[in-house]
Amino acid sequence: MANNRTFTMIKPEAVAKGYTGAILDRMVQGGFRIVAMKKTQLSKAEAGTFYEVHAERPFYGELVDYMSSGPIVAAILEKDNAVTDFRTLIGSTDPTEAAEGTIRKDFAESKAQNAVHGSDSDENAQIEGSYFFSGREMY
Ligand code: RTP
Ligand code: MG
Repeated sequence: MANNRTFTMIKPEAVAKGYTGAILDRMVQGGFRIVAMKKTQLSKAEAGTFYEVHAERPFYGELVDYMSSGPIVAAILEKDNAVTDFRTLIGSTDPTEAAEGTIRKDFAESKAQNAVHGSDSDENAQIEGSYFFSGREMY
């Protein structure tokens, strides 16, 4: 993916609370076009692989349990400077540190259960998006 696409997930607690529509609206109002989208659930193994970079961190087990605990909504989003601009739109990992008006400030439960994922690089956006979506699911 070039620098105009990123990958996101609406995480289990936000989906369970019924925030999917409101969060998607923030993304669209923020200038992101939905290229691909689906509701699905990660197995523990899949969640473990997705966040493998954090395998040595103390919160890894909790993170894997949480991310596999219920359905998520996965999407590929398109905008100029997508990765950077999307991380600005979602705000800091810890919602108590997130800026006013960001998705995490308004919808996250806690640092661990923080409503949304956003890719951290163009390379990871490409890897993550193509894990969830085939070419014929992207429009
Ligand atoms: P993400 O990858 O989900 O977009 O989040 P991020 O870049 O803002 O944060 P990252 O450092 O990559 O952490 C991944 C996810 O792990 C959980 N976490 N829990 N309990 C804790 O101290 C803690 N720290 C991180 C969060 O769900 C975070 O989004
Ligand atoms: Mg991250």
